[in-house]
Amino acid sequence: VSFSDDNSRVSAELPTGETLEILLYGATVISWKDASGNEKLWLSDATKLDGSKAVRGGIPVVFPVFGTAPDHAQASKLPQHGFARTSRWEFLGKSTSESAPGPPAAADLSVKLDFGLSSANLDTKTKSLWPFAFGLIYSVTLNRESLTTSLVVTNDDDKPFDFQVLLHTYLRVKDIAAVSIKGLEGASYIDKVDNASTKTQASTVTIAGETDRVYTPTTPTSEPVSVVEAGKTTFSIVRDSLGNVVVWNPWTDKAAGLADFAPKDGFKNMVCVEPGAVSGFQTLEPGDAFEGAQTITISPR
Ligand code: BG6
Repeated sequence: VSFSDDNSRVSAELPTGETLEILLYGATVISWKDASGNEKLWLSDATKLDGSKAVRGGIPVVFPVFGTAPDHAQASKLPQHGFARTSRWEFLGKSTSESAPGPPAAADLSVKLDFGLSSANLDTKTKSLWPFAFGLIYSVTLNRESLTTSLVVTNDDDKPFDFQVLLHTYLRVKDIAAVSIKGLEGASYIDKVDNASTKTQASTVTIAGETDRVYTPTTPTSEPVSVVEAGKTTFSIVRDSLGNVVVWNPWTDKAAGLADFAPKDGFKNMVCVEPGAVSGFQTLEPGDAFEGAQTITISPR
């Protein structure tokens, strides 16, 4: 584990060569590479990484609201996707582990990095938008063939609060035209590019235009949602306590309108598959905790 000179990033590498890079701003994972150096996440060439704007790419953490919620009393003042992705988190430390007992075998090693954000870290303005005492612990675990990101939310207040959470993962793909997403068959979804109408997914998902959908899979969260590229599964995502999966690709026009999205045809090389709890709000009672997680497993290309 190492830090950048300006203390803005934390990097980790497994003895077998897999790497991870996380920006303290937003606790945003900005790079995840396999042992051959292949990048698994998409990151815009035009993204800000200096803390002036949410990162366009990687894995931004969405909390305590998904999108905006003008009609929800507690969340109505919050900016799009909340403040977690635009706040500076604290690095809490790392732990390493071996999955099997006995002499350490490099192949079994994993590294977990923990980050924290609490109401005490927020500036006065942000605090006034959402006046609750809370704690977040975000753990990012790198294994040889997978990445797990897990968020624990605690209510440190003396009154309940409502929240939504989403792990806004930008997966890197070779060619969006050859991508299909498996595991959402039969799921109902809200189609945000068609007046938020409710539909049912008939078969595998393919993407050939602007796509912005909030799925509620009928299958257990332990059943993978997979990205298949040209017939081969390249990413397999399982969830823990996150009942929704958002699928987003901005396509030509939307990408053109996003100043921080580059190259402009970069939408061909990404798809966001975002586990979250975003159908309505979760209510957390004082002293209670919620934990939601995703594990993304890669298959060699
Ligand atoms: C997705 C939403 O999760 O994030 C989209 O479903 C949104 O509606 C997209 O456009 C990107 O959001 P932002 O705030 O990072 O531009």
